[in-house]
Amino acid sequence: MSITFHPEHNTLKLDTSRSSYILKIYEQGYILNIYYGAPLPDAYIPKREQRYPNASFSPSDPIIGEMGHRFRPDTTPLEYSGNGAGDFRQPCLAVRNANGDTVTDLRYDGHKIYSGKPGIPGQPSTYENTPGEAETLELYAKDPTTGIRVTLYYTVFESAGVMTRRVRVENTTDAACDIERVFSMCMDLPTMEYDMISLWGRHNHERYTQRVALHHGVQGVESRRGVSGHCYNPFMALAEKTATEENGWVYGFNLVYSGNFSALAECDFNGCTRVTMGINPVDFGWHLDPGEFFDAPEVVMVFTDAGIGEMSRIYHRFYNSNLIRGRWKTEKRPLLINSWEAAYFDFDSDKLVAFAKEAKRLGIEMLVMDDGWFGVRNRDNCSLGDWYVNEDKLPGGLTPLIERVNAEGLKFGIWFEPEMISPDSDLFRAHPDWHVHVEGRPSMPARWQYVLDVSREDVRENIWQQLYAILANNKIDYVKWDFNRNISEAGSALLPPERKKEFFHRFILGTYDLMNRLATTFPDILFENCSGGGGRFDPAMLAYSPQIWASDNTDPIERLDIQFGTSMCYPASTMGAHVSANRRAGYVTKGNVAMWGTFGYELDPVKLTDEEREIIRGQVADYHRWYDLIHYGDLYRLISPAENERRAAWMFVSPDKSEALFTLVTTRSVFRLPLIIKFRGLDPDAMYHITETDETLSGAALMNAGYWFIDVPMADKESYTLHLERA
Ligand code: GLA
Repeated sequence: MSITFHPEHNTLKLDTSRSSYILKIYEQGYILNIYYGAPLPDAYIPKREQRYPNASFSPSDPIIGEMGHRFRPDTTPLEYSGNGAGDFRQPCLAVRNANGDTVTDLRYDGHKIYSGKPGIPGQPSTYENTPGEAETLELYAKDPTTGIRVTLYYTVFESAGVMTRRVRVENTTDAACDIERVFSMCMDLPTMEYDMISLWGRHNHERYTQRVALHHGVQGVESRRGVSGHCYNPFMALAEKTATEENGWVYGFNLVYSGNFSALAECDFNGCTRVTMGINPVDFGWHLDPGEFFDAPEVVMVFTDAGIGEMSRIYHRFYNSNLIRGRWKTEKRPLLINSWEAAYFDFDSDKLVAFAKEAKRLGIEMLVMDDGWFGVRNRDNCSLGDWYVNEDKLPGGLTPLIERVNAEGLKFGIWFEPEMISPDSDLFRAHPDWHVHVEGRPSMPARWQYVLDVSREDVRENIWQQLYAILANNKIDYVKWDFNRNISEAGSALLPPERKKEFFHRFILGTYDLMNRLATTFPDILFENCSGGGGRFDPAMLAYSPQIWASDNTDPIERLDIQFGTSMCYPASTMGAHVSANRRAGYVTKGNVAMWGTFGYELDPVKLTDEEREIIRGQVADYHRWYDLIHYGDLYRLISPAENERRAAWMFVSPDKSEALFTLVTTRSVFRLPLIIKFRGLDPDAMYHITETDETLSGAALMNAGYWFIDVPMADKESYTLHLERA
């Protein structure tokens, strides 16, 4: 049993293989967080209920007074904070009741423990593969005054070392109410001796890692762009100040959500830290009539005492096994070449078939036709929403093209941007009210496009029919689903005034609905998510698409920061990475860096030199040799490009430790500097043979003495791989 109730202490304990989490049902039904950290045998730890210094004149509960002082919600580790009822730190839940006030105070109202994990209606979440893999606690709380009922869901994946949390709010009263904010989790830690790790960025520079010391006040990352976005990822970790890749306590939080989010850490007057994560309360609201409920998205929580690298590996294994679904979760994905950087909008069937013919000779398995095949789209200013073939480019439509590509021995993939509409499109001329807009206010375009209001069922149905017609009538093996703008002037023509604030979340539910329909109607299609590169790289999208294009930036040196950051919580199997024709490094380094992801090409294969072709044939062979090792192996980040101005290094180790692949990239030339790198993750007792150098060393020597690089090429942008096999 990983979840246990202890009546002698009135505590609930949730254990994974790497952590313990203790909740206490306190007097008057207050639910308190007593502990989260490395595993403990104890079901209770004394003195954790109250923190002593008072902020100023914090109110106290009028009934509780036995501890020698009064009980103040403001100085208490509340498990899920209400609003305006004595706790002045970040509230998790604020409900405006029929009287118009927003005071929300939650007290224990029972609990239930059971094997398994329920899904969230209409939303993506992690799942159990086999009965008994997960155990769930439903903890009920009620506002004693209004009667609003809350269910806190906790699911423990014991052996994975993961816990998930989410929240349901139910209007069990007989009057309507409005949720003004609802976070998915709250956690009060007893100190603020942590660094916060988060991922920031922008288009072409997604998910750079930032690590800063926590300070008094509220800090964190958020999105109000309508999508999770390029600028911040819905991920946050707190690491002990001394924590490294290899050692130290680390708490990871990752929200399974693609919309506006908020991930905050508040360090209070007692030097304690409250972490909250969930839907961003700005421009959010949800109206609940009597009997209705609202589900907040799920947070995936990881704790480890073995460093930041171990936190990442726990996320990687868990997402590969408990988030990604369908055929391509385990089946080897075809090696693709994408037309975007090779041709942009300038292609026709003959050009694509020429790409396919040349790609086949290199060993590539699938051609993806990117943007530009539909409507009259010869540049990015028109035709989104008109998903019918431009026969000037593709005479006779898709079928003859796909037949020709298939005849060359390649599979065929296609690009869509389903949630978008160009003002210059037949769809917009027919339905000018179908885009996201506010009545009477001009809408701002971005990349010459508006966003389609997929919160509306009629709009979704139109787009679905168009997608279906293409996908059901053509032999399509892959879909790249793009999303190339953020949402402004957010509103839906169909929502009544009291529900206008539901728009952003309804939009995301509409997206999920479309994606779910695609994934379930066409289970064999490999689906890659994209948003101007990696602008929607989040766990919710991974529930529909096993891979996401990580960035439009394919420069291998700049990709290093992007891939190091992305790997904080997302596995290599999900990280779209291609070799392109950009000139900042040679093909060897471009291949070695892209090999850390889903791997593919994004170039005109007709223009390659013989030497480049030879290198690519070798990379194709490596892709097949190392597919499992990279996709399902354990990642060790050895030298981060953010912390070393000359090089980056990482390695993958197979789960049984029989094989490893080490990669070193020189980012700035190093002249004959001796270099010793300590490998990680090997079996210390095993002997490993290094293919490239024909040396045999013990795992212990490679990890403790390190590997001594003497003759490796160290010029600017050069790179080097070593393949190790248990001797
Ligand atoms: C986005 C994607 C690119 C490409 C273009 C097409 O920017 O990230 O890979 O598909 O759209 O317009």
